[in-house]
Amino acid sequence: MPHPLRIAVLASGRGSNLAALLAARERGELAAEFVLVASDKVQAGALKLAEAVGIPTLVLDPKAYPDRRAFDLDLFGRLAASGAELVVLAGFMRILDGEAIAPWAGRMLNIHPSLLPKYRGLHTHRRALEAGDLEHGASVHFVTAELDGGPVVAQARLPVEPGEDEQHLAQRLLPLEHRLLPATVGLITQGRLGWRDGAPTFDGQPLAAPLRLGPQGLLPA
Ligand code: GRF
Repeated sequence: MPHPLRIAVLASGRGSNLAALLAARERGELAAEFVLVASDKVQAGALKLAEAVGIPTLVLDPKAYPDRRAFDLDLFGRLAASGAELVVLAGFMRILDGEAIAPWAGRMLNIHPSLLPKYRGLHTHRRALEAGDLEHGASVHFVTAELDGGPVVAQARLPVEPGEDEQHLAQRLLPLEHRLLPATVGLITQGRLGWRDGAPTFDGQPLAAPLRLGPQGLLPA
């Protein structure tokens, strides 16, 4: 048996996606060991969740560093020291320095609440509504230095309801995020989703289009 994949999670906020990962592991759906939960916000709910189940935590205050690069080099150095093999950004609200994350190419995922490449950055639900989109969703992508710009590997889609507001749309999307992220991480733990020559692979072949979340889990599009 290969060892459970050692995962570190970065989160700035409430941590509901971290909770979904932990629940998937509890259910035996994720062969993972969570070695560290790190945050740039001391009050992040994600830290409390981690502490409650005995996962080591780390908080680094960006203001204590001369610049973003210094913060990121320290953070990602500590992630390496934790033994993490995969880093999952679950609501980590920072732009990352290219040099600091270079060693993690193909080993770092982010979840973003839009159908990337649409709506990188903030206020994704509002922007989808303002654009009159009939469909919205969430994406998991490998992280590159470009904000929300790395290769997308999996998406969950949902139809926009007539007249709904930003908060309602966000609320309806969140449960899909909570399925999408563990399912995607699960494919990595199973060795099905990988990275070769700077691009994602699925079952050893280049991934042509993002996998799609269906009732049975993640499926080729
Ligand atoms: C999620 O909507 C995620 O897609 C985005 O930030 C939010 C984090 O929520 N990147 P939570 O902290 O996991 O509850």
